[in-house]
Amino acid sequence: MPDPTLPQSGAVGESAAQPVPQKRSLVTELPGPRSRELAARRDAAVAGGVSSLMPVFAARAGGGIVVDVDGNHLIDLGSGIAVTTVGHSVPAVVRGVQRQIAEFSHTCFTITPYEGYVAVCEALNRLTPGDFEKRSALFNSGAEAVENAVKIARRATGRDAVVVFDHAYHGRTNLTMAMTAKNMPYKDGFGPFAGEVFRAPMSYPLRDPLGSDGAAAAARAISDIESQVGANRVACLVIEPIQGEGGFIEPAPGFVPALSAWCTANGVVFVADEVQSGFARTGHFFAVEHEGVVPDLVVTAKGIAGGMPLSAVTGRASIMDAAHAGGIGGTYTGNPVSCAAALAAIETIEADGLVEAGRRLGDRLRSFLLDLAAKFPQLVDVRGRGAMQAIEIAVPGSGAPDAGLAARIARHCHRNGVITLTCGTYGNVIRLLPPVTIDDDLLDDALSVLADAFAAEASVTA
Ligand SMILES: Cc1ncc(COP(=O)(O)O)c(C=O)c1O
Repeated sequence: MPDPTLPQSGAVGESAAQPVPQKRSLVTELPGPRSRELAARRDAAVAGGVSSLMPVFAARAGGGIVVDVDGNHLIDLGSGIAVTTVGHSVPAVVRGVQRQIAEFSHTCFTITPYEGYVAVCEALNRLTPGDFEKRSALFNSGAEAVENAVKIARRATGRDAVVVFDHAYHGRTNLTMAMTAKNMPYKDGFGPFAGEVFRAPMSYPLRDPLGSDGAAAAARAISDIESQVGANRVACLVIEPIQGEGGFIEPAPGFVPALSAWCTANGVVFVADEVQSGFARTGHFFAVEHEGVVPDLVVTAKGIAGGMPLSAVTGRASIMDAAHAGGIGGTYTGNPVSCAAALAAIETIEADGLVEAGRRLGDRLRSFLLDLAAKFPQLVDVRGRGAMQAIEIAVPGSGAPDAGLAARIARHCHRNGVITLTCGTYGNVIRLLPPVTIDDDLLDDALSVLADAFAAEASVTA
């Protein structure tokens, strides 16, 4: 007999309270009056360094819709930056969270452990690439997990140096700021940064003289690392298989595999930062799988727990176990409610075939974006995989990044009830990160708004 006090299973988009209709609707201008009131309170209470993309306050969300405090229904093409991959407040996640919080919300895994943490680690050990013995450790945020991957790699190798790439984004803590490439807004005035972090050239096919020659781009990076750092000093090489904040840069084929092989040959721990690209986002569970790469360590967060804060480092037992007891952890790491959400999200992904759904969604997005690129010369690149697609905007002819046009297109979408994010070192990339469960009609509606935005803001090819 189902427990009537708990929400029962239902279609994607049903929230704990009432189903959220999967339809865009605007009942006020954006922002509406209630959002404007809250914005005034926000400005008086919240620190200026904490920005918000849209001046619209959320009241509820379900599936692919965010409902604001004025009753507007917005289509979410951002998933809270690639987090609600399974959809907002999907019933299984809501049930898992409610059950767990009613049992206990916290004991601290390093004091009295609990099964949910172990089960999430077992799932991660099973799902990540590689058929060797693995271990996992859980954390709260992506940046915290990246920091711990570096700690573990240093401890395992006895080396200090960390290699990262141009356009990389790994977080906003001190070490991860050092690892992140872009100055504004992430680093400016926040130094000095952690040492022993070295940046290698990325493969960025659109803007790289080596174009789509991934092997040559890898040879260039390796040559820089060997000459400027020394292979024997490198503890780990940390790379996003598809870069996120840097502009959804998909390196040329062969780039990531060549770096992985170099790491193996030189005793360097190869760390895939899959915080944004992982967890059924790109048509595989992890983006490295597109080229059959098996990382030593995989860092996960965002889509792992259906919206609850959780992150992890997973990898070879021989590396993961190198850290001494008590060297890894934290008060809240692997919170039981977040673990329950993760187990529900993973079960949903597997039971509902969401990896394949992401692949199909990618095909639809890509064919729409390629059509759009044929009409607008400012749209100079369509890239990404699965439900992680982006378009790069530039001045036709010169190819100079056009952040202004990208921002105007995103703002047009916002005004019309579609949450669209930009990114990129040059701020000229519009990224699409819908929940992989997004309803077909809802996606079509959102894409028609994006097409209108181009028509309104960019000039059509003669
Ligand atoms: C690739 C990558 N690594 C790390 C992070 C940092 O994650 P968090 O914001 O949870 O600290 C992000 C966040 O966007 C990311 O995209």
